[in-house]
Amino acid sequence: MAFSRIDLRNFRCFDSLSIDLSSKSTLFYGKNGCGKTSILESIYVASSGRSFRTSNLESLIKKGSEAFVIRAYDENTGSILEVKKGNNKPINIKINNSRVTISELVRAFPSFSIDSKTFFYNDNAPEYRRKQLDRGLFIASPDYAKDWFGYFRSLKQRNSALKLGDLAQAKAYDPLLVEHGEKLNHLRKNLISEVKKIYDELVDKLAQENKRADIFSNLKIKLKPGFNDKEGLLKSIENSNNVDLKRKNTTVGPHKADIIFESKDSLIKDIFSRGEQKLLSILWSLSQNIYLGRTFNLSPILLLDDLSSELDDEMLKCFLPTLKYIENRFVFSNIVELFGSKIDSDKQSFIKFHVEQLK
Ligand SMILES: Nc1ncnc2c1ncn2[C@@H]1O[C@H](COP(=O)(O)OP(=O)(O)OP(=O)(O)O)[C@@H](O)[C@H]1O
Ligand SMILES: [Mg+2]
Repeated sequence: MAFSRIDLRNFRCFDSLSIDLSSKSTLFYGKNGCGKTSILESIYVASSGRSFRTSNLESLIKKGSEAFVIRAYDENTGSILEVKKGNNKPINIKINNSRVTISELVRAFPSFSIDSKTFFYNDNAPEYRRKQLDRGLFIASPDYAKDWFGYFRSLKQRNSALKLGDLAQAKAYDPLLVEHGEKLNHLRKNLISEVKKIYDELVDKLAQENKRADIFSNLKIKLKPGFNDKEGLLKSIENSNNVDLKRKNTTVGPHKADIIFESKDSLIKDIFSRGEQKLLSILWSLSQNIYLGRTFNLSPILLLDDLSSELDDEMLKCFLPTLKYIENRFVFSNIVELFGSKIDSDKQSFIKFHVEQLK
């Protein structure tokens, strides 16, 4: 399912707002404090039950109001989503008037947000990249969720045994850990190699239009599994038993995985500028969305706040043709509309809103 319209009541600075989203790109622009981030945040909350900025959902209720309500409509299926949060009340999520859990919501209306952390994909801790990867797999495959929970349950129990110094007990969890862990590893590896194919196609097209995109070509993007893949997970765990016992923790396994981006054998985090890292993050996230859409018949929304921050005019020009190749909804904001006129697109696939005029 996918949102085609969103209605807000008492959300951050908005009393009431209705927006029709494009089936491709939607731009919200306007001056500081006009409500751009708030609109993107409302879409994220409606599709995940969480904010991308704060763990305090109550701070999103308009000051002086009792509750916020976000309603989203899917014109293709006629589905209506309602997300409501009152002061001192838990969040209430309904699809077609029936209560749903956050897991059900996330699968029904998937969204990904490229926030200021993801921009610097390579500056972040491995945990951050693992989460992005796992979120994609969680949405795409219920099997993945089973293996994820199975793996982390066994890991927790194994670590508790290690804390007590009981290696025999810790080893009792190895078969389950290995069974689920090998599957996680396989699914993650597969996702990265499939997304990489789409990424390469996208970058090839961009490079034909603008030489600046060449730096995004011929990258090595691969999974670092968190254990010795050649030996296999079981052998890797066995080989690190002594270290684990000393550290009272399981030191190898898919919980230590990472995605590595390399260009000409150097790590991208060491050589790319911030603007280059930002554009790489956007291209990678868009590629993942295209893959999820094509392969699992999903319509994930990608949210990007402040497109042009950190990007110079040339880099922005290098990025704009990407909008032609987007296959799902891309909702982004910017202070100025300037480049809107440079977007060569029909009305259907690009809609822009001057946020100050929406109020
Ligand atoms: N709970 C709330 N109730 C009322 N107003 C709020 C609430 N939370 C935030 N605001 C206000 O909403 C306004 C819009 O904030 P928002 O972050 O969406 O702006 P923005 O357009 O993204 O600005 P910038 O360009 O600076 O990022 C701000 O003036 C902010 O103070
Ligand atoms: Mg903002």
